[in-house]
Amino acid sequence: MAAPGLRKFAEKFDDELKFFKGWIDKPRAVGAIIPTSSVTARRMASVIDTRSGLPVLEVGPGTGVITKAILGRGVKPADLYAVEYSSQFVSHLRRNYSGVNVIEGDGFNLDKTLGDKRDVVFDCVVSGVPLLNFPVERRVAYLDSLLKRIPNGRPVVQLTYGPKSPIPPGHGDYTVEHFHFILRNIPPTQLWLYRRATRN
Ligand SMILES: C[S@@+](CC[C@H](N)C(=O)[O-])C[C@H]1O[C@@H](n2cnc3c(N)ncnc32)[C@H](O)[C@@H]1O
Repeated sequence: MAAPGLRKFAEKFDDELKFFKGWIDKPRAVGAIIPTSSVTARRMASVIDTRSGLPVLEVGPGTGVITKAILGRGVKPADLYAVEYSSQFVSHLRRNYSGVNVIEGDGFNLDKTLGDKRDVVFDCVVSGVPLLNFPVERRVAYLDSLLKRIPNGRPVVQLTYGPKSPIPPGHGDYTVEHFHFILRNIPPTQLWLYRRATRN
């Protein structure tokens, strides 16, 4: 039987291999060749207001690094909805994150993907979808469809590998805020926050 340290290492490597395989199959959808770092994942999960009592929506969970960080914030598995496009990642997530509502489908078509949960109000959205691989109009429509599911003023947090916000300001009723630059991620990552602009 393998030593616990060795087992942990093998599990991590297994995640990376799965991710890499996913990238070979669908490079544009996966967007990176290795999973998000735990530092990035924890930063993203830090935006959750655990006192809101509302569930959390994650889009593009992949191998579940960010899912794990969200649960680590104290969100109950039943209060986490994770929408993933790739059936391989979906099986992996269902095996490893029991109790989380893992939904297989397109995060760009959430009304259909969420089905009878389409009217649920979430506390915030944590998104790892590789937006730079999509045209700007689709990115803006994606953001609109996320913002309508969370209260005014609550954020959508998005990771990206480019230097600029993947959703440019000025295309709708939302604000854009740079949140963090994380060097300890391959590739280095920028985090952005989007909120529905509040009027006085
Ligand atoms: C950059 S990876 C992030 C993965 C995750 N953070 C990790 O470390 O494993 C992007 C993820 O978004 C998923 N994805 C891409 N397009 C999607 C879509 N339209 N709807 C839902 N998920 C999508 C990919 O399958 C992949 O799992």
